[in-house]
Amino acid sequence: METKLPAKLLAAAKHARTRAYAPYSKFQVGAAILADDGKVYSGGNVENAAYPNGVCAETSAISAMVLGGAKKIRAIAVVAGGPKLVTPCGGCRQRIAEFADPETPVHVCSPDGLKTTFTIAELLPASFDKRNLREKPGLNPKRVRSKTAR
Ligand code: THU
Repeated sequence: METKLPAKLLAAAKHARTRAYAPYSKFQVGAAILADDGKVYSGGNVENAAYPNGVCAETSAISAMVLGGAKKIRAIAVVAGGPKLVTPCGGCRQRIAEFADPETPVHVCSPDGLKTTFTIAELLPASFDKRNLREKPGLNPKRVRSKTAR
């Protein structure tokens, strides 16, 4: 598991941020994925005059990864400005989890560099995933292992 932020991943996310299309929010975000094929796939947020049709940087990067033929996210870096940590939105956490392991690092960065690293499981605990779709009543391993009722 790659837990340290590779310099090339930060560089790719920063570059993607410069290409982001965010004329409405003026909040440009870049994301870059280190994938299982060893390649880096990046994306920026792409907004739209019909606001809900905009997509986040993380989603753009995932599309690039899938279209590039890679299957898994080994690490993802997100770069944004502003005083607060910019962690992936709820929808993007779900999309990242689809292609990641629970321990996959999500590096949260400012243009100056790494701010903090989470695992995707920290950002999206008790997630819904493909195992839920295979669930037979009473046989869900996630639920059997759990100590607390959900
Ligand atoms: N945004 C991202 O691209 N990624 C994030 O992690 C947070 C938010 C975008 C969506 C929108 O284009 C702009 O930032 C303001 O919310």
